[in-house]
Amino acid sequence: MQQLKGKTAVISGGAEGIGLNLAKTLGAQGMNIVLADIEAPQLAVAEQALQEAGIPVLAVEMDVALLEDWQRTAKAALERFGSVHVLVNNAGVSGGLGAIETLDDPGWRWTIDVNLMGVVYGANVFVPLMKEHGEACWLINVASIAGMAGAPMGGAYTATKAAVVALSEAWYEELKAENIHVSVLAPAFVKTRIHQSYRNRQPRYATSVTPTPDVLKIAKITSEAVNSGIDVEIVGKRVLEAMEAGELYIFTHPSYRAVTDHRSAAIAGAFDQAAASPQLQGVRNEKLMSFTG
Ligand SMILES: NC(=O)c1ccc[n+]([C@@H]2O[C@H](COP(=O)([O-])OP(=O)(O)OC[C@H]3O[C@@H](n4cnc5c(N)ncnc54)[C@H](O)[C@@H]3O)[C@@H](O)[C@H]2O)c1
Repeated sequence: MQQLKGKTAVISGGAEGIGLNLAKTLGAQGMNIVLADIEAPQLAVAEQALQEAGIPVLAVEMDVALLEDWQRTAKAALERFGSVHVLVNNAGVSGGLGAIETLDDPGWRWTIDVNLMGVVYGANVFVPLMKEHGEACWLINVASIAGMAGAPMGGAYTATKAAVVALSEAWYEELKAENIHVSVLAPAFVKTRIHQSYRNRQPRYATSVTPTPDVLKIAKITSEAVNSGIDVEIVGKRVLEAMEAGELYIFTHPSYRAVTDHRSAAIAGAFDQAAASPQLQGVRNEKLMSFTG
């Protein structure tokens, strides 16, 4: 993709998994790469792999849940590469699975702070820098198919990923005129270590709750699904293809269309019921407010 050559991409959670594969994919397009990750040893391994592939790389140890870490990352990226054209808000944790009563406050906070606030802070810091130089930019937020429809026992993970989908839709319209292309990646299962996210759970979110058998069962099912997921390389190639085509929603598992079809049909049915409701006769012809400007 010619437009990317010589430009810089910042990738949160770039030390492994989907993030590292995106780093390699974008690096192969001639981009400079900033890997931003909380796991220092893995970050060093990833940095070396990119260097060996001849990709200009800067590794920054940081926590996406801390705004000041994003500011430090931006400063380092600008000092090294001058400007940034791609931000991939990829870092995420699989915290928050299980029944309603099994997730405690630190579990909710951890999941919200990393999966949602990490995306918000990344955009808050980098979008103004993108607007400043005005050249074509990409903001890619990594959600999940779990964000496309509420997944039972998905708890905080589902909630944060749905929020990332909604934010991406809002920002897509908001940033159109600024030459910033917003996409949201919504994969189903991909072979990574997402099911072992607790390895990066910061001490400030420590929990004293012992997982219940139900939670352990969900964790086992999830790890089996992840281990039999698609290879990470497919995701990188798919994202590049979607960037070129300017896609808002980036899917990697066509068969999961059933999830969104089911949701769309349920919502359409609910609107039909509302339209037929005697209670709403007075409001049915209200002027439609455009959310898209
Ligand atoms: N693997 C899947 O099946 C799958 C499916 C849907 C969505 N996703 C999403 O893809 C994204 C990438 O996950 P993955 O599957 O590659 O998992 P992964 O665990 O292999 O990679 C996640 C990366 O994020 C980093 N990270 C975690 N907490 C961080 C923090 N606070 N600050 C900075 N970095 C942090 C980790 O160190 C790791 O390098 C996540 O947002 C995840 O929710 C994954």
